[in-house]
Amino acid sequence: MYSKYNFDQNPDRENTSCVKYDLRNVIFGKADVIPMWVADMDIPTPSFVIDSIKKRCNHPVLGYTFRDKQYNQAIIWWYSNRHQWNIKDSWIEFCPGVVSGLNHAIRAFTQPGDKIIIQPPVYHPFYSTVENNGRKLVHNNLIEENGIYRINFEELERLAADGAKMLILSNPHNPVGKVWTTDELTKIGNICIKHNVLIVSDEIHSDLVFKPAKHVSLASLNDNFAQHTVTFASASKTFNIAGLSSGFTIIPNAELMKKYKAELEASGAGMGNIFGTEALKAAFTPEGETWLNALLQYFQENIDLVELTLNKKLPSIKFNRPQGTYMLWVDFRKYGLTTKELNEMLIQKAGLGFNAGEDFGTSGEGFQRINIACSKATVNEMLQRLVKTFSPLEKHS
Ligand SMILES: Cc1ncc(COP(=O)(O)O)c(C=O)c1O
Repeated sequence: MYSKYNFDQNPDRENTSCVKYDLRNVIFGKADVIPMWVADMDIPTPSFVIDSIKKRCNHPVLGYTFRDKQYNQAIIWWYSNRHQWNIKDSWIEFCPGVVSGLNHAIRAFTQPGDKIIIQPPVYHPFYSTVENNGRKLVHNNLIEENGIYRINFEELERLAADGAKMLILSNPHNPVGKVWTTDELTKIGNICIKHNVLIVSDEIHSDLVFKPAKHVSLASLNDNFAQHTVTFASASKTFNIAGLSSGFTIIPNAELMKKYKAELEASGAGMGNIFGTEALKAAFTPEGETWLNALLQYFQENIDLVELTLNKKLPSIKFNRPQGTYMLWVDFRKYGLTTKELNEMLIQKAGLGFNAGEDFGTSGEGFQRINIACSKATVNEMLQRLVKTFSPLEKHS
């Protein structure tokens, strides 16, 4: 597709204190793997976002700041336009990143020892945020059939009835790429409300959704759900600004908002930073939307490449197209390798730095999460290396 944006650029990110590139030795024990792991993009942050930061830097002072009216207005516009959810100014509050927000929410809304439900395989900090705060993790494992994941509603209800105080939902679900439907969200909402389980919905990937899938915020479905849900999101994944450590929460329930604010204040983390504010105001705009639509098209083409190549050359590797997120959840189990053997082959032989599936929970064993938010050239190189390394195993599998 013609696009006025050039996503083929491959910016050189080395020696920029970049987690994805400059920590390869620490993470993989090898400094030259192609890094397709941590969820940021090898796609330049859009120029209109960079320009907004440069413009602010033209002023000689970077003293204390607050988030102005336009900041909330940009979020309100984005949600109404992109997600058909009309949110109010008073429902919005800052978080210094979504993981930080989850920590604050756990401390604001639960007590030490309380049970908190997560749905593995799931984004690994969900485990640590619960455990680091002295709460008890309870697992409602997703059910997988032929690579399609669904929620075990019977088990969810059992855990909710058994006294769990909070559910941390990932929507779209990282790492399996599922965009939960209105029907699924309604079932979750009804179960949680029936048993007084607070829903904390991490929707950081909500803008990265491929048609015909459509992101729906659980809290947007009805007022009852809105009153029982704390939603976290950010412009960081969508516009590649994770280094600005800025996100936001949407809390329609005034009592919950009061508790969240108190926790934010108690930790002294509420100031945020001016660049996060300016970047969001530049991103959540019609220009941002045009750029995002082109980006999603580019990702679809990257996913096409992976699908075509794996189906043709490595049919033992199973993979379903994600409905959302730029991460692919890829199943290597047919090769019958141990997790250690698989990781070694990928890192040492193929020179590829993916996220090992087991990092998302034991049900992720034998899977890898591959980040395709990069140029087609990088995706092609990754595929060539996979084919070279794994084709000898094809005839035995
Ligand atoms: C589901 C999910 N939540 C939160 C985060 C991190 O958010 P932040 O950098 O705002 O803490 C990520 C990053 O990969 C994620 O995938």
